Amino acid sequence: MEDIFEKEIKKYTVFKNKDVLSPHYLPDKLPHREKQIDKIMKTLAPILKNSRAHNLFIYGKTGVGKTASVKHVLKNMETVKEKYNVNVRGVIINCVKSNSKYQIMLSIAERCYPNENFSGYSFAPIVDKVMSFMEKNNLHLIVVLDEIDKVKTELDELIYTLTRINDDLRRGSLTLIGISNRATFKEALDPRSKSSLCEEELVFPPYDAEQLEEILRERVVDGYKKGSVDASAIRLAAALAAQESGDARYALKLITKAGEIADDEGSKRVTDRHVEKARKKAEEEIIYEIINTLPEHQKIVLYAVALLSKSKSYYKTLADGSDKERILFTGEIYDEYKRLCKQRGRKARSSRWCKQYINDLEMLGLLTTSISGKGVRGTTTLVKLDFPPENIERILKRELG
Ligand SMILES: Nc1ncnc2c1ncn2[C@@H]1O[C@H](COP(=O)(O)OP(=O)(O)OP(=O)(O)O)[C@@H](O)[C@H]1O
Ligand SMILES: [Mg+2]
Repeated sequence: MEDIFEKEIKKYTVFKNKDVLSPHYLPDKLPHREKQIDKIMKTLAPILKNSRAHNLFIYGKTGVGKTASVKHVLKNMETVKEKYNVNVRGVIINCVKSNSKYQIMLSIAERCYPNENFSGYSFAPIVDKVMSFMEKNNLHLIVVLDEIDKVKTELDELIYTLTRINDDLRRGSLTLIGISNRATFKEALDPRSKSSLCEEELVFPPYDAEQLEEILRERVVDGYKKGSVDASAIRLAAALAAQESGDARYALKLITKAGEIADDEGSKRVTDRHVEKARKKAEEEIIYEIINTLPEHQKIVLYAVALLSKSKSYYKTLADGSDKERILFTGEIYDEYKRLCKQRGRKARSSRWCKQYINDLEMLGLLTTSISGKGVRGTTTLVKLDFPPENIERILKRELG
């Protein structure tokens, strides 16, 4: 046992400080986000003059630096607040964890009164407590609702309450920053809360390959030992992440995994080959996370699609004869699904349900459907798996037991 510990500790590693590469680490500089950071600072600047700021809604795809940029600005404010002699505090709430009007208000109260226990309090008294804390301390509170689209209940009411607090305060202020990666989120709000939250708006565009390369280079300098990572490996990781919607989190994940693989292989340098391997591993993890949460019958349908896709006889030539693809008919998927259900002693659902499951799997990005041209069978839905069937099969074999 101790030998294993000792071996691990003594083993050569390409990393200098792995924490720097973690998605939770906030670097001092955020290249290519200067404009967005400027805009956030300008929006919040009135607070430093002891007046009220506009609320701000931030939108952008996943991994484009929204959370990091807001944290960066709040950290800045923290360092200058004494100079301007204002009492300002940022509260970042992750709405995946706190996803109701009540829980969010409770989180705000708990940050104001870290030593108090609010169990048993209902909503209105919590609001009163927060308000009196703010007035007493002339506090400018910046409430960041990160991943605001994950709030499940009464978001309109919550925005209304927070706006009202701001209106009713005699001293201090409450500024709301909402962050979302869903383009359609805003439209689901009622017009009044939409106009309150979106007083100012800011879009974060995806990064291109060059920008990601620079972001990675800066992190690699602090995270890896000097000369450990090939320039071409960084370029490849950046290019792959640029293809995947310009996501810096994914780029960081690739370069970190590549380092872990290099360590495992006893290699002192991280090369393109390690990045390629990291990409395969990362893809599998993503598929696994999606599949893991599927209900059983959807798993069985997906399993049927994977098994059919694997067998050569299911190659179909595309209508214009241009290419061959593994395309399946919904009918044959249903037959295979029934067979698998029988095999595992499960009662198969109707073919209608099977079609619904196929739609659900498409929504999750696991497969693509299209409608066939008029043929022998009339029009029918065609299904194509979007991932290697062998990977899906491997995961589902484990999952379904
Ligand atoms: N410009 C940048 N410079 C350095 N690191 C960055 C930059 N942009 C993003 N990152 C890093 O990428 C990761 C993802 O960024 P962040 O969490 O801010 O994304 P996000 O836009 O909030 O995504 P999501 O919508 O998924 O929450 C973090 O580790 C962050 O440090
Ligand atoms: Mg975020």
